[in-house]
Amino acid sequence: MALETDFIVIGSGVAGLRASIALAESGGRVTVLTKDKASESNTEYAQGGVAVVLAEDDNPELHEEDTLVAGAGLCDPEAVETLVNDGTKYIKQLIVWGIEFDKEGDKLLMGQEAAHSRRRILHAHGDSTGAEFVRSLMARAAAEKRINLTPFANTESLIISEGRCVGVRFLDPVLRGPREIFAKAVIMCTGGAGQLYQHTTNPPVATGDGMAMAYFAGAEMADMEFVQFHPTALSLENAPRFLLTEAMRGEGGILRNKYGERFMPNYDERFELAPRDIVSRSIVAEMRRTGTREVYLDMTSKDEEFLKHRFPKIYETCKAFGLNIATDMLPVSPASHYCMGGIRTDLQGRSSVAGLYAAGEVTCTGVHGANRLASNSLLEGLVFGARAGEAAAGDRPKSQVPSPRSKDQSERSDSRSAVISTAVKKRVKRVMWERVGILRDRDSLVRAIREFEQISASNLGTSSRNFVTLALLVSKAALWREESRGGHYRTDFPDQAEDWRVHSVQRIGESISSASRIDPDSASAART
Ligand code: FAD
Ligand code: SIN
Repeated sequence: MALETDFIVIGSGVAGLRASIALAESGGRVTVLTKDKASESNTEYAQGGVAVVLAEDDNPELHEEDTLVAGAGLCDPEAVETLVNDGTKYIKQLIVWGIEFDKEGDKLLMGQEAAHSRRRILHAHGDSTGAEFVRSLMARAAAEKRINLTPFANTESLIISEGRCVGVRFLDPVLRGPREIFAKAVIMCTGGAGQLYQHTTNPPVATGDGMAMAYFAGAEMADMEFVQFHPTALSLENAPRFLLTEAMRGEGGILRNKYGERFMPNYDERFELAPRDIVSRSIVAEMRRTGTREVYLDMTSKDEEFLKHRFPKIYETCKAFGLNIATDMLPVSPASHYCMGGIRTDLQGRSSVAGLYAAGEVTCTGVHGANRLASNSLLEGLVFGARAGEAAAGDRPKSQVPSPRSKDQSERSDSRSAVISTAVKKRVKRVMWERVGILRDRDSLVRAIREFEQISASNLGTSSRNFVTLALLVSKAALWREESRGGHYRTDFPDQAEDWRVHSVQRIGESISSASRIDPDSASAART
């Protein structure tokens, strides 16, 4: 039997939880479907903190300016202004709701991260900011009787009827079978797709499902070529790429090559605090120059007690791998970390498909441009989660929402298709890393696309099809953009070009077009 609710939220990271709270406050019944246990998300693992204007020596214009510079000419200024101004409002609200940021006495502690002109990063339990976001938002959501959260409910596709998103197909964890649920609106909050790459800081849930589902439902996808690689993931044989937060460099960490030499001064005048894309490429260049697979993060100038207190999770995790962060050189290399591109939305989270809203890392709102400023994404999830929830609750559909009986039932879920096949996953991740990674060129992108098209042509389950489709979206956009900008670097087009100061837009059945703004209501144009 089909289920019905008022609103469906997919995902329980910062964006999904904040959207659910906004929807529940509007009086609607909210069903949250999430793939794993409720806390499993990129949000849970966020370390460095959240950027927000609260310090006396800071102001919104400075935060906006830093965000625009990092975004390399592709941020939407209105989106950035919204992020920064609403950010302060929603963080203050979160403090009232009970989030515990680190303090000294009564004063909030502010950390420093790359490309921020002020110390403006609030953090919690040293390096466990994301877990504190999840704890506090989950507590708030649990107090809302209208929110019903179902863990281990993998969503596979959206139900579209008469051009409108009216529900989703998911695997019911209790019935252990496919099920459909219908609502007035669906808010996609499934996060990013770091798992597309062999080396990533992201947990296994970050396979970008929501982007692919939206694409197949007809939504426009923007800026898929822009992928952020974090420079300092712990690089040990057979160990996951555990993140060593940028805040460690903010506290004075130095990058050294295998000879113990500090190399960042040879690449950028901002040294270790240059933007992430520059530090990642510098590390790749230095690894090639010295013939190694890693460089080293050196925190030894810092006192052990300070490090233990400031970075407790990293201290303990490294210890478990036999490394003392106060005395050892820490082997690091870049890993995929964040998707700047995603479902194209307006500033209220509306996608180009009626009834489908989106918030958080799954979207492209225009706040990050070609490269996200560190610690701006927890803020984005909070601000745009709330805004999308408010819009979905407030919008009145232009036409009658069809009843469940009249739905197009053409696509069916299949419990066997819920997981991405291991062979497909392994092959896609390897090809993405080798050919669509930190350095790209025409030949490698063409070969990658050929290989993904081959995989696509085989008989795939829904989740595998979603995964390889996403790889194609990133690769095709990367081939299309014949310049280098932010998180997209083409060795055959190494310069940034003014006439490429446009967004890529992809829609099923159409070739890539360009748009001067992200808002789906603004025009897209074919680019020849
Ligand atoms: P997520 O938090 O990833 O949540 C997505 C949710 O969707 C999850 O609950 C997932 O299970 C669910 N989901 C996915 N697919 C499906 C499906 N098919 N069906 C149902 N549910 C599904 N940003 C900062 O601003 N500051 C930081 O310090 C910081 N540190 C980071 C450290 C690490 C290690 C990582 C990986 C990221 C970090 N980031 C940081 C980035 C930031 O954490 C994320 O961009 C942000 O948390 C994304 O929030 P979200 O709600 O959009 O998605
Ligand atoms: C980090 O702590 O280095 C990650 C911060 C971010 O991704 O914004």
